[in-house]
Amino acid sequence: MDHFTYKNNQLYCEDLPVADIAAAVGTPAYIYSKATLLHHYHQIANAFAPLNATICYSIKSCGNLHILKLLASQGSGFDVTSGGELCRALAAGGDPRKIIYAGVGKTDAEIADAINAGIAAFNIESEAEIENIDRIAASLGKTAIGAIRINPDVDAKTHRYTNTGKKETKFGVDIERAERVFEQSRSLKNLRLAGVHIHLGSPVFGVEPYVQAVQKVTALIDRLTQRGHRIEWFDLGGGFAANYEEPHQAVPIIEHANALIPLLENKPYKIALEPGRYISANAAILLTRVLYRKTGGSKRFVIIDAAMNDLIRPMLYGSFHFIWPTNPDPANVPLRRDKSLTPANGEVVDVVGPICESGDFLARNRLLPTTQRNDLLAVFSAGAYCFAMSSNYNNRPRVPEVLVDGNQYRIIRRRETYEDLLTHERI
Ligand code: LLP
Repeated sequence: MDHFTYKNNQLYCEDLPVADIAAAVGTPAYIYSKATLLHHYHQIANAFAPLNATICYSIKSCGNLHILKLLASQGSGFDVTSGGELCRALAAGGDPRKIIYAGVGKTDAEIADAINAGIAAFNIESEAEIENIDRIAASLGKTAIGAIRINPDVDAKTHRYTNTGKKETKFGVDIERAERVFEQSRSLKNLRLAGVHIHLGSPVFGVEPYVQAVQKVTALIDRLTQRGHRIEWFDLGGGFAANYEEPHQAVPIIEHANALIPLLENKPYKIALEPGRYISANAAILLTRVLYRKTGGSKRFVIIDAAMNDLIRPMLYGSFHFIWPTNPDPANVPLRRDKSLTPANGEVVDVVGPICESGDFLARNRLLPTTQRNDLLAVFSAGAYCFAMSSNYNNRPRVPEVLVDGNQYRIIRRRETYEDLLTHERI
């Protein structure tokens, strides 16, 4: 699943003991494995190779410049969702002709910048946005290219905050309205609508939601074609789940491909995908150190130096991240990342951070090996939506990102300083 493995009772990232990295760069720190990142990129690209699919990595999952540069060097395009992400994609050397721009609320300035950068296409979410992009392109004397994001009304069966393909979410144009929207757009002078886009939600664990949505949307494309619209590509979005635990919860990517390829091969349009989590989630751990232990009523707390500002997913979505000491007793080397492991001398604890909120936890009621002050813990599967969603809450400087390649590491984002925290403000 990845290149974070226990050898001689200690956790390695590729060929480096993570404790050595902690000694050099301090904690907390995100540690990425280059081999894992590239493995997952190629795994999804190969699975969908029979469709000759364009992969547009979703920057929002993990947007470090060095990581984007690595993916661009493998041929990846990018899915961006803000002016900031577009800036990042370009700064990393991304090819604008492989950049697609999604989001329900693109500002005029963001739209103009994207047109000027020569991106491949906008994924457009409403009639109002169509008009606005056409108007802005006209003012620049250019023609923009777009796909309509269709809301197929399919339940991706994921967390309600990230379920995006159902009616009554803010995303896309209802599938029943899509033909009318294409008809009304025929007369646009500066926006060419030539694609169709969906994104069902994230993470999507099963194949069925994609199959349902693809069946609905390929039928829609057939109707559009009959009406004389030329659809050049169908972008299936992202959402493919990653495995956060063993036994694995996510369907292997090849099963997604095997289910979708028969529905999409030999079509006269191209296929694009926007995976984020599938590529980045298992490419990193968050390395953190135990500061203190304490009890409160009947509870035991392990207080660590990382907090909800560094990794908010457990607090926000109730997400599970496997956590384990990096240098356990020989009896406690985990054979798999299983919620139900029963360590020798284990204890049930809440793993909490220093932030002044009771919701500041990375795990609750978790059975872990007993840890002591200064022990290192690894929070696994921390590559997607972890650093990317981190903040400076409680004035905590954001932590470094470190990339391991074999037996070498490099700091790809330095630890923030107190000076960084003050730099934008004026007295
Ligand atoms: N395309 C669009 C239009 C999206 O909105 C997203 C994610 C993706 C692609 C990439 O989805 P992925 O392949 O990474 O699942 N913060 C949440 C996840 C939010 C996803 C938002 N959109 C989490 O931590 O689980």
